[in-house]
Amino acid sequence: MKNLTIALMLLATSLLLLLPTARATGGSAWVKTITKGNKKLTKFHFYVHDPGAGPNATLFKVANASITDTSSTVFGQVMVFDDRVTADPDINSAQVARAQGTAASADLQNLAVALNMNFYITSGEYNGSTVSIAGRNPLLAPSREVPVIGGTGAFRFARGYAVTSTYSMDLAASYIVLEYTIYVITYDHEIVWPST
Ligand SMILES: *[C@@H]1O[C@H](CO)[C@@H](O)[C@H](O)[C@H]1NC(C)=O
Ligand SMILES: *[C@@H]1O[C@H](CO)[C@@H](O)[C@H](O)[C@H]1NC(C)=O
Ligand SMILES: *[C@@H]1O[C@H](CO)[C@@H](O)[C@H](O)[C@H]1NC(C)=O
Repeated sequence: MKNLTIALMLLATSLLLLLPTARATGGSAWVKTITKGNKKLTKFHFYVHDPGAGPNATLFKVANASITDTSSTVFGQVMVFDDRVTADPDINSAQVARAQGTAASADLQNLAVALNMNFYITSGEYNGSTVSIAGRNPLLAPSREVPVIGGTGAFRFARGYAVTSTYSMDLAASYIVLEYTIYVITYDHEIVWPST
């Protein structure tokens, strides 16, 4: 029994050790596209790093309302961020995108922000393209869904949704890591406007 436990632990450990290598050799495991007809479905999976304090902070509070101080939901607080996005949970792993935008506390009863977030892809085949999400994000829910409302470059006409959850949270260091999975539908063809 004990041996079995040890064997399982060793197996789990070696699998964990293998994981980053397997992802890295995959090249772009954080983004995959499948094509059906002229329809393309792209799936992103990555981690957004939110250091809110210290020399490497990328998330800043820029405004609050007259009731923010006394509101249980910090209503009226507005944050602006330009967060590093990586394929692996480690902030020092390769950057694949930046997540830029604002989060405004916009719910008087619950902790929820009106999120406006642009994923600016900085590596791989979609380098330079953007995917924009916007919507309500109830920060304490285990899994939150935010609509994809558009994109640029390879993601023109984008529609879809993002699912996000808190991967880790270090309140003392004001450092939160968010895990994102985003499904985006686009179309393969450029617009050819009929000439009249
Ligand atoms: C800030 O980032 C640098 C470069 O990645 C790193 O060496 C340093 O440890 C970070 N500092 C903190 C406080 O996280
Ligand atoms: C709100 O803003 C005022 C003025 O900038 C500042 O003094 C106060 O500390 C802020 N309160 C919160 C909760 O951010
Ligand atoms: C992404 O595109 C920018 C601007 O065109 C370029 O400077 C950069 O080297 C590219 N990065 C990668 C990883 O391809």
